[in-house]
Amino acid sequence: MKGLNSIKKNKGEKKIVMLTAYEYLTASYLKDAGVDMILVGDSAGMVFSGYSNTLPVTVDEIIYHTKAVKRGAGSVPVVSDMPFMSYQAGVRDAKKNAGRIIKEAGADAVKLEGGSGILKQVRALVEMGIPVMGHIGTQPQSVKKYGGYPVSGRTEAEKEVLIKDAAALEKAGVFAIVIEKTESGAAKEITAAVSVPVIGIGSGPYCDGQVLVVHDMLGMYDKFTPKFVKKYADLNSEMKKAFKEYIEEVKSGAFPGPEHSFK
Ligand code: KIV
Repeated sequence: MKGLNSIKKNKGEKKIVMLTAYEYLTASYLKDAGVDMILVGDSAGMVFSGYSNTLPVTVDEIIYHTKAVKRGAGSVPVVSDMPFMSYQAGVRDAKKNAGRIIKEAGADAVKLEGGSGILKQVRALVEMGIPVMGHIGTQPQSVKKYGGYPVSGRTEAEKEVLIKDAAALEKAGVFAIVIEKTESGAAKEITAAVSVPVIGIGSGPYCDGQVLVVHDMLGMYDKFTPKFVKKYADLNSEMKKAFKEYIEEVKSGAFPGPEHSFK
């Protein structure tokens, strides 16, 4: 079984793997490698556009990235982030903006950050027939409220709120929940408390699946690397090495050679 329906069924059966993509080529590599879902995250604002946080990302930018990703994703489900202020102000905004992301860009689902404060929006979208992924724990769109990205769920009280939020999101109809930068034991309890898959990022090994930002796990983004990121490649060094070699060869006349020239 393919698509979003299979994602829900994987809970307790097999780990779900999600990675981000913002353009066609990465999406096609992710499809070929066999990921279960692709996330067009608003992390694009930082690792693609160079902003210092995700807040400036617009619905038009998410639509642009999602269209490119969909061209490479084949049948892999694509989940697109609803950016800051595209849903927080109310149901009307949420419906209009999620509708655009689904209709204009072809996303298969949208992801919203928040718990009890956004249940009306989640219910409205699900009622419209739009699959919704929740996002609890550390919420990058609330960076101004917290003054950074603190670890969530470290106290009993925080853990209880997270469990309530996860259960409320499940009841509102989400098909899965991302849990970010949350203490591993708390993430384990939250994962056990709901019947929808919980996908962790920086939340330990007990979640139903994992997601990372591609630019982090490939070692491309060098401004800041969270503790929870494992670098599976060092593309930063590889790219800089290739750029330097090209510059030297153009300057020295070694490139282009006869094999790159036409007669
Ligand atoms: O924007 C993003 O890439 C995300 C992940 C960190 C889950 O929301």
